[in-house]
Amino acid sequence: MRIPSLAMIPGFCELPLPIIQLSLAAVLKCGQSFRWSAFPLHVTTVDASTPTHEYRLCLRDRVVCLRQTPNFLFYRSVFPKQLSPTQQAVKETETLAWLRDYFQLEVDLVELYDQWSARDAVFDNLRSRFSGIRMLRQDPWENLISFICSSNNNISRITKMVQSLCKQYSTPLLSLPPPHETTEEQQCQSYHPFPSPSALAAPEVVGTLRSLGFGYRASFIQRTAKMLVDTHGHTSLSSLEASEEWLMTLRDLTTDEAREELLKFMGVGRKVADCVLLMSMDKKDVIPVDTHVHQIAIKHYGFPSSSSAKAKASMTPKLYEKINVKLVNVWGNYAGWAHSVLFTADLKSFSSYGLPSTSRVEARGNITVLPTPPLTPSPSKLKRKRHPEVSLSPAQPETDTATADVVEALGVRQLHNDLNLEPSLADRVKRRRRVAAVA
Ligand SMILES: *[C@@H]1O[C@H](CO)[C@@H](O)[C@H](O)[C@H]1NC(C)=O
Ligand SMILES: *[C@@H]1O[C@H](CO)[C@@H](O)[C@H](O)[C@H]1NC(C)=O
Repeated sequence: MRIPSLAMIPGFCELPLPIIQLSLAAVLKCGQSFRWSAFPLHVTTVDASTPTHEYRLCLRDRVVCLRQTPNFLFYRSVFPKQLSPTQQAVKETETLAWLRDYFQLEVDLVELYDQWSARDAVFDNLRSRFSGIRMLRQDPWENLISFICSSNNNISRITKMVQSLCKQYSTPLLSLPPPHETTEEQQCQSYHPFPSPSALAAPEVVGTLRSLGFGYRASFIQRTAKMLVDTHGHTSLSSLEASEEWLMTLRDLTTDEAREELLKFMGVGRKVADCVLLMSMDKKDVIPVDTHVHQIAIKHYGFPSSSSAKAKASMTPKLYEKINVKLVNVWGNYAGWAHSVLFTADLKSFSSYGLPSTSRVEARGNITVLPTPPLTPSPSKLKRKRHPEVSLSPAQPETDTATADVVEALGVRQLHNDLNLEPSLADRVKRRRRVAAVA
């Protein structure tokens, strides 16, 4: 086990890690996880070796704080109680193990980028601007609830919902002031872990979540939580509830088997299930298809564009499947990971991300409005206009009995069986390591 070394930044441990392997600014803001807070740091120098932001996430027993430079990831953990330096050092080795698992650092992203570039000119054109975008390996329970919230929703609103859910249903672990580099004295912020299934299973949760703006998702969340608790109970020997542990075990199933289990939950159709499979259950070739991904397929991968105004509503299980098969053919067995790079590149909030002239300015939090340059050889304004906001599923009125949900309810069970390749040796080693890291 690696002993955390004293870092350039007091209080932080450091891990050598090129930013092309992991870009926190992209990965934590591109619609995978909705709980990270980002704090701009007061930076006086303009050299690239000073972190510009601190990112924080509240886990069950600690708040993990991260900073990044082109060559290092800095991390530190904060606990409710002050620890001795020795205790703290031990805990930081746990945090390091968590980081390696959560960011899947054993996967060489640069090698994957090379492979995708060789297979796909569209990807090759984007890679330098959108480097360091990898798939997180999230907690399945949090991931499931977050993506039940994602139906007919956008990133900023999902973020608000998930944060209010945590505030409402879990007790704060600790309070922490913003990072010290900020100039003004600011108020401490409370950090709440993600609530447990049993906390969300009571019937009155529906009304509360509705009053917090969850709409029809309120009852999906409560009923899913209740199903889990009823089926698996909430007691267990670890810090996780039994149903959370059970969700973890879905990682060991095949994609089809795990999807079948997920589709049993309320508010979970094919797209939501596929998000969970990709983002927390190690199914790296799964591509969740929403309107956004459909548009990417039309724009770049030769899918016929529907001329009808009802194009958005026309996502059928068959089309979903076709897009999946096509994109897996383009990108290979890490297709889900590649898709997230394309997905991010198409987000409005990333329209000036990674441009050489603005990246540092942006990183310092200055708002600079620049014309968006074409991302690809064949940009299309039309598609962008139709989807002016980041929409994780077809953008339809809140009250509409969302077509996507209807489509999802049809539950396409059979996936690209023929494309489920045997896990490589590296994958098997990886899985074993994960088991070891979790144990
Ligand atoms: C960013 O904005 C701050 C204050 O608004 C200003 O002092 C600083 O010079 C700006 N930085 C750059 C790189 O433009
Ligand atoms: C997200 O959706 C909400 C509600 O539909 C809307 O008010 C808001 O403007 C949207 N935000 C963005 C960034 O598109």
